[in-house]
Amino acid sequence: MSSTTPLLDVAGLTKHFPITGGFPIRRTIGAVQAVDGVDFSVNEGESLGLVGESGCGKSTTGRLITRLLEPTAGKIHYRGQEITHASRRELAPVRSEIQMIFQDPYASLNPRQTVGKIISGPMEINDINPKGGREARVRELLETVGLNPEHYNRFPHEFSGGQRQRIGVARALALEPKLIVADEPVSALDVSIQAQVVNLLQKLQRELGIAFVFIAHDLAVVRHFSQRVAVMYLGRIVEIADRDELYSNPRHPYTRALLSAVPEVVPDGAPVRERIRLMGDVPSPVNPPSGCRFRTRCWKATEKCATETPPLVRADGSKETHLTACHYPEAAGEPGEEIVVQAVASGDDMAPPPVLIKDADGVVTKD
Ligand SMILES: Nc1ncnc2c1ncn2[C@@H]1O[C@H](COP(=O)(O)OP(=O)(O)OP(=O)(O)O)[C@@H](O)[C@H]1O
Ligand code: SF4
Ligand SMILES: [Mg+2]
Repeated sequence: MSSTTPLLDVAGLTKHFPITGGFPIRRTIGAVQAVDGVDFSVNEGESLGLVGESGCGKSTTGRLITRLLEPTAGKIHYRGQEITHASRRELAPVRSEIQMIFQDPYASLNPRQTVGKIISGPMEINDINPKGGREARVRELLETVGLNPEHYNRFPHEFSGGQRQRIGVARALALEPKLIVADEPVSALDVSIQAQVVNLLQKLQRELGIAFVFIAHDLAVVRHFSQRVAVMYLGRIVEIADRDELYSNPRHPYTRALLSAVPEVVPDGAPVRERIRLMGDVPSPVNPPSGCRFRTRCWKATEKCATETPPLVRADGSKETHLTACHYPEAAGEPGEEIVVQAVASGDDMAPPPVLIKDADGVVTKD
């Protein structure tokens, strides 16, 4: 692999889940377009955040990368090798290098197995015998994730939620992975515990050079963890950029809406109120809007947005590595503080919702 080859490269990745129906003969009558032509890459040791509302295809993307799901179309390259449809045998050497951490630390650990057995499971399956033996390696891993190595013989129910997630992390580390897909690894945990687990993952990324695809609902969680962030909406990436660039210079209306919901702490400690409130639900991925999929909730939508799918490209004024899928990207520069948008459109209603402008004195006028 040359130094410029990304660790993981995904092009046109698509997953449509068929919907069957009919009687007496069942046939395919439609498809859930869960992931629809997604492109991104992850470099060695890098952390990419994947963010978007519920149902936008984040987990499906994670499961496609880890090959827990078979893609409908597109290509996945790992270290330059195509693994899109690789068989179990072909995948064997790669599989150990790509691991997944799941959202629910309760459901993802077998309650009848000891921690030692759970963490050494991947070594057994892959017939790996580390120097010093598996038990010694498990104790070492427990220490790495901040658990007491003496708890080797305990069962998952004897641990708290945060500790269970640490067990899941130790299991993922057992085969010395190069890439970990972490699917909302902290959203089931108490807020007070979330930071500890995020810090642990950050330490692993830094010290062990592991690359991460870190999936989260909102931009707050990935902010301190990801070098790059991709924003998904209804099966597609609408914006991708270096972290600081995305937070300081969002060009896609949806990214702006998501960012405005990230509570910022002002000096006196009170959170700034939300500025853009998206109304209406995400449309169904069975029958997504034509053209730009965000158009039914976008305050800038025009006829063109309904007829032409905006490609994910560099917008005028953006950096080379900053790509946006919008016909009318937001102005470059700091996200405006003064614009309050009440998006009311949902369904196919194309009428633009009112845009309210707030001046320095807080007086709101209609545009
Ligand atoms: N096995 C499946 N069969 C049919 N539809 C599915 C399947 N798995 C996921 N979907 C659908 O695909 C879409 C994307 O789901 P996915 O779980 O990837 O979203 P997500 O972004 O991870 O959401 P969340 O934030 O709620 O975890 C959803 O509409 C979901 O209902
Ligand atoms: S392409 Fe049109 S509908 Fe889509 S985000 Fe841009 S302005 Fe809004
Ligand atoms: Mg999910």
